[in-house]
Amino acid sequence: MIRNAAEALIPEPGPSAPAADEHIAPAPRVSIQAFCEHPATAEIIQIAAEDRRLAKAHVSVHMGGVEAAVAHYQQNPTPNLIIIESSLPRDHILAELDRLAENCDPGTKVLIIGHANDVMLYRELLKRGVSEYLVEPVVPLQLMEAISNLYNNPETEPVGHVYAFIGAKGGVGSSTVCHNAAWSLSEMLKVDVVIADLDLAFGTTGLDFNQDPMQGIADALSSPDRLDEVLLDRLLTKCSEHLSIFPAPVVLDRDYDISVEGCDQVIDVVRQNVPYVIVDLPHTWTAWVKHSLLQADEVIITAAPDLANLRNAKNLFDYLRTARVNDHKPSYCLNQVGVPKRPEIKPADFAKALEDQPVAVIPFEPQIFGAAANNGQMIAEVSPGHRTAETFRQLAQLLTGRSEVKKTKSGLLTPLLSKLMKK
Ligand SMILES: Nc1ncnc2c1ncn2[C@@H]1O[C@H](COP(=O)(O)OP(=O)(O)OP(=O)(O)O)[C@@H](O)[C@H]1O
Ligand SMILES: [Mg+2]
Repeated sequence: MIRNAAEALIPEPGPSAPAADEHIAPAPRVSIQAFCEHPATAEIIQIAAEDRRLAKAHVSVHMGGVEAAVAHYQQNPTPNLIIIESSLPRDHILAELDRLAENCDPGTKVLIIGHANDVMLYRELLKRGVSEYLVEPVVPLQLMEAISNLYNNPETEPVGHVYAFIGAKGGVGSSTVCHNAAWSLSEMLKVDVVIADLDLAFGTTGLDFNQDPMQGIADALSSPDRLDEVLLDRLLTKCSEHLSIFPAPVVLDRDYDISVEGCDQVIDVVRQNVPYVIVDLPHTWTAWVKHSLLQADEVIITAAPDLANLRNAKNLFDYLRTARVNDHKPSYCLNQVGVPKRPEIKPADFAKALEDQPVAVIPFEPQIFGAAANNGQMIAEVSPGHRTAETFRQLAQLLTGRSEVKKTKSGLLTPLLSKLMKK
């Protein structure tokens, strides 16, 4: 066994590492970023990262210790796990960790590799929510076991954030927004993202990513008890390095009666294994759709600028705000704005009715959206510099909850919104 944090403080000669044949459960697809002071520690982490037990995790190793981490996370979202090597004096490291905490997402865990066997420091670290404290010299197996224990304990929180996308009406572009935002998230953060397509009969995830998979989410929903990490791996279809889809079967010779429990179980297994789970919901109102919206970490409603969309979006907003009092309120995007000659409800009126600004206002652009849909590509793949591609990148950043919408010269979100409001 690895010395746990308390045992680590009992001085004993040399490192106590697990034996090579001791079972260490593989870590799930977590994102891990390490900030080391010494090249030797960076090397140990690198060796651990290449081990089969961390094969699914995405590990990046940086130098500069806790100070570099503090600077880094002022600009960037935090991963599932931050590893920090620090030989700073106790007060100094605690002060730096307090600064780090200001920019840490709630789900992020922190593992410290220290140089001192210091009980006071250990207690202070625990108080600050640090998950594990290892004392140098650390060996790769010890580090792997510590990481594995953080994620394989049934009492620990699941690793993944769940974002549910739904349209205020059918055909308003909810799936398109969902897929583009998910793709941008995976490209920007370089962490694993899974899109779960719950529109079993008509879903477009396979088409939008140019995939024709044989298996998918219906296989999981039909026997949710059987779904585990190994089966999940088989049922997912990989679209790019970090994006996989859990596609809908899209055949009509079956009935699709999804149960609330089954749906819950499937999403839970995915979120135990993947940092970002994007749920593409159909525009229907069933027990499992309601449940999926209530369970998600964030809900994103896509609406087109007409009266029925406004009414439905308002109803969804009111329902979710009342039912999720301790959560963020839902976000909404206005899509297909500016169809020629069509009278439209202005974003300002939406904002007034929903008592919130849209997170994105996406113009109606049939040419680029049509080309992307027909090619099975994302907007950013068809035209990386296109302003809508930038909108999706900003939307993805907003979803991680960390970055403000940046005002860029090419318009987008806020500027476009204010322009629209002035009209
Ligand atoms: N901003 C836009 N400009 C032009 N076309 C768009 C835009 N957004 C989406 N579309 C197109 O609208 C169509 C419907 O999009 P999508 O399937 O994403 O909608 P949905 O809300 O998920 O529909 P459903 O109710 O069937 O789930 C697609 O052909 C898509 O390419
Ligand atoms: Mg859809």
